Amino acid sequence: MHYRAAELIAAKRDGAALSKPAIDFLIRGYVDGSVPDYQMAAFAMATFFKGMTADETAWLLDAMQRSGDVLHWDDLDFPTADKHSTGGVGDKISLPLAPAVAACGVGVPMISGRGLGHTGGTLDKLESIPGPGRDGKGGGFDVRLSLEDFKAMVAELRVSLIGQTPNLCPADRKMYALRDVTATVESIPLIVASIMSKKLAEGAGSLVLDVKVGSGAFMRTVDQAQLLARAMVDAGQRCGRNVTAFLTAMDRPLGTHIGNALEVVETIELLRGGGPADSRAVTCRLGGEMLRLAGTVPDINAGEAAIAKSLDDGSALEKFRKIVQAHGGDPRVVDTPELILPQAPIVRPVLATGDGVVGAMDALQIGLISVRLGAGRNRKEDDIDPSVGLVFAAKPGDTVVKGQPLCWVHAGEEARAQRAIAELQAELSLLPAGQMPDQLPLFIDAIYKP
Ligand code: URA
Repeated sequence: MHYRAAELIAAKRDGAALSKPAIDFLIRGYVDGSVPDYQMAAFAMATFFKGMTADETAWLLDAMQRSGDVLHWDDLDFPTADKHSTGGVGDKISLPLAPAVAACGVGVPMISGRGLGHTGGTLDKLESIPGPGRDGKGGGFDVRLSLEDFKAMVAELRVSLIGQTPNLCPADRKMYALRDVTATVESIPLIVASIMSKKLAEGAGSLVLDVKVGSGAFMRTVDQAQLLARAMVDAGQRCGRNVTAFLTAMDRPLGTHIGNALEVVETIELLRGGGPADSRAVTCRLGGEMLRLAGTVPDINAGEAAIAKSLDDGSALEKFRKIVQAHGGDPRVVDTPELILPQAPIVRPVLATGDGVVGAMDALQIGLISVRLGAGRNRKEDDIDPSVGLVFAAKPGDTVVKGQPLCWVHAGEEARAQRAIAELQAELSLLPAGQMPDQLPLFIDAIYKP
């Protein structure tokens, strides 16, 4: 069957549902250049307004995931699972989760992204770990592995974390750049196909999604997040994968540490069986579900218990040590993070101005303060400072007394530290004793296989 792109755009503009071969034609044509940018931009805008059926969304996802390399892990003698978060402030969960799940016997081939705007990225956090590099030239933790090396590392360690390779989902790379400049990012079917195509091409048998909700998240409201989560679970299952989505709170930051090397510090606390309760709970819940979907535990409670055990008995920490070493980082980071990780020259406290209960925190504002310290990027090409960021000594709902540190600012220069302190003083509020801040529950919803 031969198609004309203009006719398919018109059909979508008029609200028709396209067939699988028609969607394949558009995506194949866009990647090989026979469908030009202006036609794909028109198609994206028509989709933005008219939406897609569940079938069309799954076909779009499938066409996009097949647009480049597709990894398979069938030759391994253990199951594989992965996790994706829609991103937030202080969300370092992939770092403790990947070694914990691998320590429990399930393979984790994880292809991650970088931070943009107020959200951090797993790759930037890992790259803050210095070391000899895989080539011995001092480059530190290396996330730029070839797919062959990635596969070999997963076969040996059951886990590896790398960045996007040029030929994984080229359709998404091109389409995302186009959507970014044509006001067509905020379309549920396009977001579903974009996020899920990258994850499905990576080949893991099961996928757990963490859809963040709140001011620091891509989805600001529970309703929006539920729509996105349901559509992602549905499309993933139509493409033959086990998928579960959790909706978790991102109205305040997750955990206590925000900033690249600082989030590695919190990761090591978690892998030593400690760390903030919310980060640990999310690690155990997501990891437990990965084990359940992979079929190694009967239910999520057993999965959570297995992940918690791996955090408490040191097996996840030992797995992290091996990951760091295999990727060219200095494995001693696990024993003495303060000696290995880059340290900001200036560390200043933000003190409580009275007695009371720490009020709600706005994740977006906290994330932006951290970006202004140099921990994040405003544009893709910006450099980041791995050492800077924020460490909260108190979280919303904690009782504090006047003069007690609420937060530590880690900065490269005094002027930036002072600006962050002033911004945090304006941002952090104290409630009278006995009052609790109004915030989302940590676990808001879970969308399982129907
Ligand atoms: N992240 C993605 O990878 N794609 C989208 O469309 C939106 C967020």
